[in-house]
Amino acid sequence: MQQFNFPTNLLYGQGSLAQACSRIKEFGYKNPLLVTDKTLVKIGLINQVIAELKNNNIEVVIFDDTHPNPIEQDCIDGAKFYQEHNCDAIIAVGGGSPMDAAKGIMVLATHTGPLAKYDDAIGGDKLITNALPPLIAIPTTAGTGSEVGRAGVIIIKETNAKTIIFHPTMMPILSVLEPKLTIDLPPHITAATGIDAFTHSLEAYFSPIFHPMAQGIAIEGMKLCLDNLETAIMDGHNISAREKMLLASSMGATAFQKGLGMIHSIAHPLSSECGLHHGLANALMLPACIRFLASQNLTSQQNKCMQEIQDLFIQRGMAKDNLADSCQAYFEKLGIKFELKNHGVAENQLELLAGKALQDGCHQTNMLPMTKESFLTVIRSAF
Ligand SMILES: [Fe+2]
Repeated sequence: MQQFNFPTNLLYGQGSLAQACSRIKEFGYKNPLLVTDKTLVKIGLINQVIAELKNNNIEVVIFDDTHPNPIEQDCIDGAKFYQEHNCDAIIAVGGGSPMDAAKGIMVLATHTGPLAKYDDAIGGDKLITNALPPLIAIPTTAGTGSEVGRAGVIIIKETNAKTIIFHPTMMPILSVLEPKLTIDLPPHITAATGIDAFTHSLEAYFSPIFHPMAQGIAIEGMKLCLDNLETAIMDGHNISAREKMLLASSMGATAFQKGLGMIHSIAHPLSSECGLHHGLANALMLPACIRFLASQNLTSQQNKCMQEIQDLFIQRGMAKDNLADSCQAYFEKLGIKFELKNHGVAENQLELLAGKALQDGCHQTNMLPMTKESFLTVIRSAF
């Protein structure tokens, strides 16, 4: 017996934001907390959301004190803000960071801290017993897919590690894929976030967990990336490419209920220890991880799984000799400069990174079991 979960109501395409604000009015929320970050306030993107809310006579309280790679303090401060202003819902607007911070705020606004006790790896979800505030998610990047996820990733105080806080009721009640909110993302962020979406689908596809529906979504998600990410980078105002990438992002995160793998286990400490953008960290590690897996004794099923993704490259005339080389050439075309040392990672950090990667939960569903030594081998090969 298995339980398959599928996400929530998704509004997709131009006009989604206006429709969402009208739905928020119908829901009857009086005082939503809008969780975002300072960059989105500074560049004025948030004004588009506020204007649509005002059109529906909805006033919001804004909390913008969230970090890229959100930390526990963001959630503590946001929860205090939520309580002080008697809020009754949360609207998260931004990339993965404000959306994940919003999920931590949902927990701490209704439960006592610290967040460490809610760590999913130690069964912390069982301590989330009070009703959480309803969440509406409006992504402004296409990659994380947090808008269809029941978990937030927060750097907690105790360990300084990215930690998964999970609960089924953390799922947004409405997710809004409005392409006009992503058209001004700079090319390097479009590339990094888009590669994160691709990596979610690829690692989900590699995961051994039985979930044929998620498997189908993963392969379609990768096709959407291969067909649209380059256009979204080169021609940011191309609405069709932008909305397809938003969909690819939601599909990647839907697929990874099958699990992720070693790429994300290395990417997480590359962010928390070395400050790398999450999508960039995935991009830098993905070819090295595939090369490592391909060098092991794979079953015919595992080899078939790799070939099926390589076939997507072959069908598009984008293939190199093997899947790792195809992905590397593709990412280079998207503007990624390879090797960790080119991105501020020091050689004396590699051992620490391997240890932290082993502690990370994502590789539990990797194609093959990992050890600290094998993590170190892969990280060195990408250095
Ligand atoms: Fe990711």
